[in-house]
Amino acid sequence: MVPMSNRFDNAAASWDAETRRVQMAQGVQTALRESLNLSPDMDLLDFGCGTGLFSLELRPLVRSLTGADTSQPMLEVFSQKAQAKGLEVRTRHLKGTEGLGGPYHLVLSSMALHHVPELAPVFQAIHAALAPGGRIALADLDSEDGSFHGPSDDVFHLGFERRNLMEALAREGFHDLRERTATTMEKNGRTFTLFLITGEKG
Ligand SMILES: C[S@@+](CC[C@H](N)C(=O)[O-])C[C@H]1O[C@@H](n2cnc3c(N)ncnc32)[C@H](O)[C@@H]1O
Repeated sequence: MVPMSNRFDNAAASWDAETRRVQMAQGVQTALRESLNLSPDMDLLDFGCGTGLFSLELRPLVRSLTGADTSQPMLEVFSQKAQAKGLEVRTRHLKGTEGLGGPYHLVLSSMALHHVPELAPVFQAIHAALAPGGRIALADLDSEDGSFHGPSDDVFHLGFERRNLMEALAREGFHDLRERTATTMEKNGRTFTLFLITGEKG
């Protein structure tokens, strides 16, 4: 098996070539914009930003966008795409247990949490990085049987039960938690659903 960072490192340059990934990110982005108001005084962090399929299009609507990821090649593509569009962005290469910087007004994430073995420290880091009253918008797969990825050594959660994730977020101090279906994705002959959970720093 290819170790996690190598897999994403190796995939970065061609990540956007898969149309369904682009469509999925756009579906999540639409759900986000229906669920939350973005404004020019907001600083955003995209956790597990990859190449920015989810967040780069939001950049013109806010004051700043920071992409955080464990894969440096993903961050390089994120920055190159931003530069090509004339957008200023920041990046944070996550290597261990360091913080996420901030303060941010919104931390968003799409399809990254199932790659994180232990979620509580990440939720604590997000909470610490948010300004008072800051918000979260987290999208990922609903519980599935493992057929989304197939055999893989970098998937630590076969999707999530929305209720369980919201309880975990509540334990770390988030409130006003809401969930909705964000979009669907066809893969391996199946239809998978993605949720979007929003909430506020308590
Ligand atoms: C499936 S991709 C999703 C990328 C992007 N959010 C999108 O919607 O296209 C997952 C991303 O999460 C990153 N990642 C994996 N584990 C991570 C971790 N522990 N912390 C932060 N990012 C992580 C990977 O490097 C990869 O860029």
